[in-house]
Amino acid sequence: MGVTKIKDDIYWVGAVDWDIRDFHGYSTYKGTTYNAYLAMDEKITLFDTVKSNFKDDLLYHISEVVEPEKIDYLVVNHVEMDHTGCLPEIIERIKPEKIFCSPMGEKALKSHFHHEDWPLVVVKSGDSVSLGKKTLSFLETRMLHWPDSMFSYIAEDKLLISSDAFGQHIASTERFVDEIELGEVLRHAAKYYANILHLFSQNIQKLLATVAELKLDIDMIAPDHGLIWRGNPADILTAYDRWSRRETRDKVLVVYDSMWKSTAKMALAIGGAISRRGVDVKMYNLAVNHRSDIMTEVLDSRALIFGSPTLNNGILPRMADFLCYLKGLRPKGKLGAAFGSFGWSGEAVKHMNSALEEMGIELIDPGLRVKNVPTVDDFDQCKALGGKIAQAVLDGS
Ligand code: FEO
Repeated sequence: MGVTKIKDDIYWVGAVDWDIRDFHGYSTYKGTTYNAYLAMDEKITLFDTVKSNFKDDLLYHISEVVEPEKIDYLVVNHVEMDHTGCLPEIIERIKPEKIFCSPMGEKALKSHFHHEDWPLVVVKSGDSVSLGKKTLSFLETRMLHWPDSMFSYIAEDKLLISSDAFGQHIASTERFVDEIELGEVLRHAAKYYANILHLFSQNIQKLLATVAELKLDIDMIAPDHGLIWRGNPADILTAYDRWSRRETRDKVLVVYDSMWKSTAKMALAIGGAISRRGVDVKMYNLAVNHRSDIMTEVLDSRALIFGSPTLNNGILPRMADFLCYLKGLRPKGKLGAAFGSFGWSGEAVKHMNSALEEMGIELIDPGLRVKNVPTVDDFDQCKALGGKIAQAVLDGS
């Protein structure tokens, strides 16, 4: 793709992965990038590396700027394999004088790669090191999204290298957000937040407060995935503030799966009734939508409504998958309800209610069950449930 100069003597030297479509359960239908940055100074410093099969791209890009062997320092902001997969080969090749990592990063590097002889230098929040003209300082960002995660900041360049935070899974020839449509980047950033960082929202609030307290002068945020925020990173900082405060709006998400369309018909009747009350409704059939896209819609929804018929005394597998995924991402402050058709035993609603209660989702209604195929009376009950959901949402505005 070619090296990109992002600041004086600082270059993007990462790799673009056009083909990846699944990132441990997250649908990356636009591919992604593994960003690495190279600072040319008295101490030449490489920030992060790339996934193992992109090692040659990284080396090729570095070579366009400097011989890789001339790199003095390596900074490991995050140990997850998409940023360290090629680390053993890179370290073998460049033989860095120092490898900077957080205290938890040291542990993670040792337990991933089992190299006791790497020249690790553990840094903590507030520590800084001179690269020559540039001063590099570190900020630990535990659980954003791993215990080892940290940011690197170069004061002279007002540059924050932010690891996974503020990233998006977008493969592109462009390197900066302002080179493509902002709305498109924010949509992918929201998906990234919803699927990777949502459960750490409280930590993000603290991080944003810390960044404000430190009065870091930032005019560029360079994440490890996707496009770089330059000029005015307020767009993404404001969005992170909003998402991490778990701000919702008058919106209901109806997520359902169906066997013979009865539960689907109930979903449409419930959704229609909610919509008629002026509340925004998004309908997601699990048979045709990916869990990670639905998760993005969870972000600003006030109510989450789930529908599944009963199968073998339980719920449909796709619903079980989604509820498990959602639980891990810890939704908070949501309202919820469940519905579904059944043939004889009809436990699905009970199971979904239990799952919702376990997640701390407040039930609006005990749930609605319909035997086999809905009748006119059943549809009236669906509409009544939709009206009740809409009212609960409006009451919470
Ligand atoms: Fe992009 Fe947590 O790795």
